Amino acid sequence: MATILAIETSCDETAAAVVRDRTVLSNVVASQIAIHQPYGGIVPEVASRHHVATLGDSISAALDQAGLGWTAIDGVAATCTPGLVGALLVGLTAGKTLAMVHRKPFLGIHHLEGHIYANYLASPDLEPPYLCLLVSGGHTSLIYVKGCGQYQTLGQTRDDAAGEAFDKVARLMGLDYPGGPIIDRLAQTGNPQAFPLPEGNISLPEGGFHPYDSSFSGLKTAVLRLVDKLKVDGVDPLPVADLAASFQATVARSLTRRVVACAQAYGLTTVAVGGGVAANSGLRQHLQQAAVDHGLRVLFPPLSLCTDNAAMIGCAAADHLNQGHCSGFALGAQSRLDL
Ligand code: KG4
Ligand code: ZN
Repeated sequence: MATILAIETSCDETAAAVVRDRTVLSNVVASQIAIHQPYGGIVPEVASRHHVATLGDSISAALDQAGLGWTAIDGVAATCTPGLVGALLVGLTAGKTLAMVHRKPFLGIHHLEGHIYANYLASPDLEPPYLCLLVSGGHTSLIYVKGCGQYQTLGQTRDDAAGEAFDKVARLMGLDYPGGPIIDRLAQTGNPQAFPLPEGNISLPEGGFHPYDSSFSGLKTAVLRLVDKLKVDGVDPLPVADLAASFQATVARSLTRRVVACAQAYGLTTVAVGGGVAANSGLRQHLQQAAVDHGLRVLFPPLSLCTDNAAMIGCAAADHLNQGHCSGFALGAQSRLDL
């Protein structure tokens, strides 16, 4: 059993949490979305400065809400990669400093491993092996989870990540940042068949398509052309609900097709989903239908654990600490690193 104080500052959430193995004792997320919204995206320097100003409060709140003092904490964890380096450094430095001062083991955690571990918080009976569909603002990956720290990436995006595609398509439709939740909301009242869009298959030199890799830049360009054409045709206002529903259904269909192909090829019957786009209602519906059609167990974390948070980092760290792993204080932040 390991009780972890965890910190996550890889992007635009200043998050701290206390987790005991697969149980969340507290989960504090201070979002910077409103601060970055006027810029239409995240400004890295602004994100770092805001983490510096907010992280102390998030950590104190996480410890207070868990009702625990430092004697009850077995280890301190922070996200060390991938992400915005300046932003990562704030959480990493705070985590290492707290670990040194309180003489606790320190664990640097890969952000994507955290997104995978959000599923253990939601479904404590989950055990490897299983397939994880990781869909966030920066990644779209199909990962064969074999055990703690044992991951094989079977498929990934060749260009835009799923969340990035949602955000870019929202922007070209004149919607706010981040676009994913806004498109999701608009899609509820739209017709998913209103506009046929390309799923974005990757052609192979030997013919056919790559079964697990995806591409979303072609889909984004198709929406751009469609929006331009609607404007030239004088369609005003734009049918944003139908556009959102058609785009969302295309992404959901494309991802679900790859999940089913991958699970069947590798003989995996459990699929765990993680990352911000795992909150998407269209993706959830498509995967739940695929679960029924193909006899799969599909797991989703609750919405609060899909987007960035520190509880998922704490859960991964607890598992690593229980296995006797820990990181050195020389560990640095890296903007990119494979899982
Ligand atoms: O995992 P996350 O919080 O941060 C990264 O690690 O990137 O994911 C953020 C991404 C954003 O692109 C956001 O638009 C998308 O997740 N997102 C959604 C939804 N909620 C968040 N995309 C589609 N539907 C949603 N409901
Ligand atoms: Zn994330």
